[in-house]
Amino acid sequence: MSAGNPVLDDVDGWDRIGHSQAYAQVERLPAPLALELLKTIKIPDNLDRLDIIVHDNGCGIGAMTSVLESSSPRLQIQATDASPSKCDEECLNVTTEIADSRSLSQTHDDWFDYTFSTFMICLAPEPHRLAQEMNRVTKPGGTLALAVWADPWTKACKQVDGRHERLRIMDDGWTDPEQVKAGLQEARFKDVVLVTEKWP
Ligand SMILES: C[S@@+](CC[C@H](N)C(=O)[O-])C[C@H]1O[C@@H](n2cnc3c(N)ncnc32)[C@H](O)[C@@H]1O
Repeated sequence: MSAGNPVLDDVDGWDRIGHSQAYAQVERLPAPLALELLKTIKIPDNLDRLDIIVHDNGCGIGAMTSVLESSSPRLQIQATDASPSKCDEECLNVTTEIADSRSLSQTHDDWFDYTFSTFMICLAPEPHRLAQEMNRVTKPGGTLALAVWADPWTKACKQVDGRHERLRIMDDGWTDPEQVKAGLQEARFKDVVLVTEKWP
């Protein structure tokens, strides 16, 4: 549930109320985590064969796309984000598009070999719908590589003071690892593997 939160309830909020500008500062953090995610899923060396298509879903300013490009320069990447300010760079093998990932109506079923999505689903409206749409556009036998922020700070504060109430920015169901796994299974992803990064 995400009722009553200006970020979670309104995808346009990423621009309209200035969250995208604020997050631009934070977005330097995900780059090393994007690299870890790439290592974790152990993608094959020949990934930049031209018939492989990769989606960076909710790309932001492109932390994941940059890591993918560096590792496989010829890889065909489609980077999409709901926020217009984010999708203004075209690179050789990267196409960018403004799109609401809850309904990627321009994208055929079973289109992408790999879907990467970093730190979007835990902060976005209607995360279950996002997961279902990721499943629709990812090929059977393809891979979803999803990264979410966990919430260790709240857990630590609650141990000190059980009355601690956190400022709710992220969706509860998409920060707890087991709930993330259940959400992905509900969206019909199979063989879900959880990896927790202790970072920094
Ligand atoms: C926390 S940022 C993460 C950006 C990037 N993936 C990264 O790792 O740095 C979340 C991004 O999700 C985008 N977003 C939120 N809801 C979305 C939706 N329904 N469809 C597409 N993008 C969305 C926002 O515009 C924002 O750029």
